[in-house]
Parts: sequence; C-alpha cells; structure tokens
Amino acid sequence: MGGLPKKAFKLETVYDSPSSKLLIDAGALLFAKNRLSSGLEVEQAKITAAAIVESYSKIGYEAVGIARQDLAGGLSFLKEQATRSSFPWLSANLVDRNTQEPIFTPYLILQKQNMNIGIIGLTGHTGDSPIEEDQEVEIVSWQKILPPLLSSLENQCDIILLLSNLPHSENQMLSKQFNSIHLVIQSGITTSNMNPFLVNNTLIFQTEKQGKHLGMMDIHWHPSKTWQREGNPLLLKKQNELDRLNWQIKRIRSKGNPEMIYKDKPENIQAFRNIEKKESLLRQEIALEKRNETPTEKQSTYQNVFIPIQKEFPDQAEVATIVDQAKIEVNSLGKKRRANKKLAGYTGSQSCKECHIEQYDNWQSTRHAKAHKTLVAKSQQFNVDCLPCHVTGIEVNKGHMALSLPEDLLKVGCESCHGPGQDHAATPEQSNLLSPPVTVCLQCHTEEHDDDFDFKRDRQLVH
Ligand code: HEC
Ligand code: HEC
Ligand code: HEC
Ligand code: HEC
Repeated sequence: MGGLPKKAFKLETVYDSPSSKLLIDAGALLFAKNRLSSGLEVEQAKITAAAIVESYSKIGYEAVGIARQDLAGGLSFLKEQATRSSFPWLSANLVDRNTQEPIFTPYLILQKQNMNIGIIGLTGHTGDSPIEEDQEVEIVSWQKILPPLLSSLENQCDIILLLSNLPHSENQMLSKQFNSIHLVIQSGITTSNMNPFLVNNTLIFQTEKQGKHLGMMDIHWHPSKTWQREGNPLLLKKQNELDRLNWQIKRIRSKGNPEMIYKDKPENIQAFRNIEKKESLLRQEIALEKRNETPTEKQSTYQNVFIPIQKEFPDQAEVATIVDQAKIEVNSLGKKRRANKKLAGYTGSQSCKECHIEQYDNWQSTRHAKAHKTLVAKSQQFNVDCLPCHVTGIEVNKGHMALSLPEDLLKVGCESCHGPGQDHAATPEQSNLLSPPVTVCLQCHTEEHDDDFDFKRDRQLVH
C-alpha cells in the first residue's frame, strides 16, 4: 500500500486520455496471502485492503480481477468492497455453490475508440483455498467456464482480455486451446516482471506483485485479430550471428589496424581475415533470404514497458491522504492491545553490554539499534505487519506478540542475530552463541524491503 500515492502520481502523468487507454489490474491487490493468522492481523489487513479499494477508485481503475487471496478477508468482506468500488471486480468462475451463478461480474465489454474490448476474470483454484469454510462459494474450472463464455463474446468483441489468477502453466494451456483470447494478464505470486510472450495467438504477461512497477502495453490492433510473429527463426539466428561477428571486428579494430598490431603474429592476422570473410558471406546470405521472404499481411503489434515506481516520485495528494489515514487506523488498533510481558529465553541487549562492550557500542551506532524508533517516527509502532523485522525475537506472522515486548527488545538487538541469550549471559562458559549465517539476515532483509542486500559487505557494518 505504501507505494500507492506514487503510483497514482505516475498514472496521472501517463494516463491522460481515457478514450484510448485502459486501466486494469489482474487482482491480488487486497491481501498479501491466502490466509491471515491472528485476529489482529485480520483486522489490520482489512483496514489496509479497504484503503487500497478507495485508492483504486480514486485513481480510476476500470476493472480488477479477483484473485484467490482477495478472498482472504472472507466473501462478505469482498462483496462489501465491491459495493464501495467505482470499478467492477471480475470473476467468471467464482460461483454460488447452489445456483452455480457468478457472484461478481463475470466479464465486461468496454468501448474504446470504436472497439469492443471484452474483459474476463478468472480466479485461481489450487492450493489451500481460503474459501474452504465458506460453504456458499465454489471456484469452477476454466475448462468448464470458458467455452460457452468465449463463443458468445467472440462475436461481440474485437479483442478479448483475460485477467487470470490461474497458475502460469494453466494460462499457457488455455492459450493453446482458445484462439480468441488475445491477452492474458496474470496476477499472483511472481516477484519479477514477466515480459509478454506469445502462445498460439495469445500474449501472456505479468507485472510483479509488490507494486514497484507499472506495466504498460501499447497495442496497435489490426482487424486480422492476430499478433505479428517474431519472424523467420533462421533469419533471426543469422542476424544474431552477424551482430556477434560485427562486434568482434569492431572490438579488434578499436585497438588499431590489425595488420599493424598483429605484425608479429601472422596467425592472428589470418584469424581476423577469416572473421571478416565470414561476416561478408553472412551479410550476402541474409540479404538474399530477406528478398525471398513473402511480405506478411498486416498484423497486430505491441510495445511494452515496466515503469519503476521510484522513491523520488511525489505523492498524489488524495491517495496519500487515504493511505495515511489507513496507517493511523491500523496503528491505533494495535495500540489498544498492548500489555507488558517478557519473551522466553531473551534477556535484551543491555545485559550483553557488560561483557561485550565493544560490540555493544558499535551496535548502538547502527540503524538496528534505532529500528523501532524508525517505526515510531512513522507512527507505525503498533502495526503488527511492520514489527517483526523492527524488533527482537518475533517471527513474521506473530507481529501481535511484539506489542507486549519490554523496552530493551524494541530494537533489532543482539539476540535478533545471535538468538536468545539468557542462558549464555548467565553462564557464558557453558553456552556459546553462534555467528549468524546469511539466512538470519534474510529473514528481515527480504527482496521486498531491501533489494540491495550484500552479506559480505553488510555484515561488516553490524558492530
Ligand atoms: C557474563 C559475561 C557475558 C555476557 C553477559 C554475555 N556474554 Fe557473550 N561471551 C562471553 C564470553 C566469556 C564469551 C567467549 C566464550 C568462549 O569463547 O567460549 C562470549 C562469546 C560470545 C559470542 C561468540 C561465540 C563464539 O563462539 O565466538 C557471541 C556471539 C556472544 N558471546 C554474544 C552474546 C550476546 C548476544 C549476549 C547477550 C544476550 C552475551 N554474549 C552476553 C561472555 C558474556
Ligand atoms: C530482525 C530483523 C533483522 C535482522 C535479523 C537483520 N536486520 Fe539488518 N536491518 C533491519 C532493519 C529493520 C533495518 C533498518 C533499521 C531502521 O533504519 O530503522 C536494518 C538495517 C541494516 C543495515 C543498515 C543499512 C543501511 O543502509 O544503513 C545493515 C548494514 C544491516 N541491516 C545488515 C544486517 C546483517 C548483515 C544482518 C545479518 C547478520 C542483519 N542486518 C539482520 C532488520 C534486520
Ligand atoms: C520483512 C521485514 C520487514 C518488514 C515486515 C518491514 N520492514 Fe521496514 N525495513 C526492513 C529492512 C531490512 C530495512 C532496511 C533496508 C535498508 O535500508 O537497506 C527496513 C527499513 C525501514 C525504514 C527506513 C528506510 C526507509 O525505507 O525509509 C522504514 C521507515 C521502515 N523500514 C518502515 C517500515 C514500516 C512502516 C513497515 C510496515 C508497514 C515495515 N518497515 C515493515 C525490514 C522490514
Ligand atoms: C544484525 C546482526 C547482528 C547484531 C544485531 C549483533 N551481531 Fe554480533 N555478530 C554478527 C555477525 C554477522 C558476527 C560475525 C562477524 C564475523 O564473523 O565477521 C557477529 C559476531 C559477534 C561476536 C564475536 C566476536 C566478533 O565481534 O566477531 C560477538 C561477541 C558478538 N557478535 C556480540 C554481539 C553483541 C553483544 C551484540 C549486541 C550489542 C551483537 N553482537 C549484535 C551479527 C550481529
């Protein structure tokens, strides 16, 4: 949610003419996972989810797909969000168990520039379904849903898009089976952007899940309703080889005239001449092949980019207000649950000080020692999603336990890395604490929170 105001800002600058643009999201935007653990986590997550819905409405999204994890707050919660949204939530296969009717909007036909754009949503169904307990709903397989739906949409639409929460392998399968789906936008678990690639006549692509990028695709749609192929693979191979040879020649020539620099090495001169000869032959072959190629009929083309949402971008004011308000609400929810308890096995960094004064002093000057203050400064010190990485001894998912930690554990203290040290502090000669391996750091220095972590360099900085 944190990056939303910046994303909104960027969208305002690129999304200037709604008649030629379409703003959609394939889903998985409300919750980070399928199942939420503690009661407090659920309540917090719902506040955040509601703020995301409000922001998306403000930004002007036109359709959003329903991913399985969007149901983590329960069906009634999602229904409530759908009534608050200015955009439809799409799923053709999330149906009422009894009537087998879709619960949300199954598909949508939008008109843009005299074109009918069909958009279908599909919810993923594998793994631990969050709706097992929800007896009212069922996720039906795409094999059953798509054939009748497509045969009715095919005649009405110029192009058909699928917002799919299915696994990648199934998206490939359905692309092979159905010619009339032209674009599949995936939602879900990948942490990296996936460039579009063509399966049959379907382009499949995905923007990473953490909201650090905007996926943009510029489409020139041709009445043939077919995507342009990559071109003759043999020709492509030859072209690559030619590029390679040219690069070699350029590199050698950049050092000077080969006849001069290899004066004393005739075998090198010979090798260079061979490269030049090969290059010239290949160039002729390519020219010939291009002449023989039949010109292809006009087809649809696209260009795509993933725009990084940079920290330096300003915030879009209205979305920033929504997000800030939600953060305050989340924080005050945790504040009410506070109590004071000790954490079994842990003693706090203070008690390590008396024997390891050097490490203690050095550690004091690092950001680990101030990690909880960082949350206080952001008024997020009661947010159970943030706490596990900004305090000592709390596992991810058990953020609510951090609300009752004593002051000395409210930092990334010695025991965050060395493990619980009560026994060691009492009888150091009997119990050793180990040097933390990289896996310890990575529990907190995840890709999402630190995309620049380097164990070799960073371990020198801890104390
Ligand atoms: C009463 C003194 C004392 C206290 C308190 C103490 N240590 Fe130690 N610590 C030692 C001694 C002595 C050694 C060396 C033990 C050895 O070499 O067998 C040691 C060794 C270590 C080592 C290195 C282990 C190794 O094998 O290289 C670490 C890490 C460590 N302590 C961390 C801590 C932490 C964290 C705390 C606080 C929770 C702490 N110590 C509290 C005395 C203490
Ligand atoms: C319990 C979670 C946690 C663990 C475990 C952890 N870190 Fe950190 N680390 C943080 C947090 C949180 C910050 C940022 C603190 C702040 O600014 O409030 C941080 C900051 C840092 C920084 C400062 C970054 C900078 O740019 O100034 C370094 C270096 C670092 N950690 C290295 C490590 C290494 C190396 C390990 C493993 C040996 C490790 N950390 C283990 C949570 C953790
Ligand atoms: C999975 C662990 C993890 C979680 C969860 C986490 N952080 Fe952090 N946080 C880190 C680490 C690691 C760093 C240090 C990154 C660096 O500077 O290299 C950090 C740094 C920070 C910083 C200082 C650097 C900056 O980007 O300005 C702030 C502020 C911060 N976190 C706030 C939060 C808030 C608010 C939350 C909850 C919404 C949160 N963190 C949740 C691990 C985490
Ligand atoms: C962010 C993780 C982290 C924190 C926090 C941390 N340490 Fe360490 N500590 C390490 C790592 C990593 C090593 C191993 C360093 C190496 O091998 O170069 C280490 C090594 C040590 C050693 C062995 C001697 C040495 O300096 O290499 C002692 C003793 C020690 N730490 C004590 C402490 C104490 C006391 C604190 C708290 C004041 C503390 N550590 C906090 C990561 C941490």
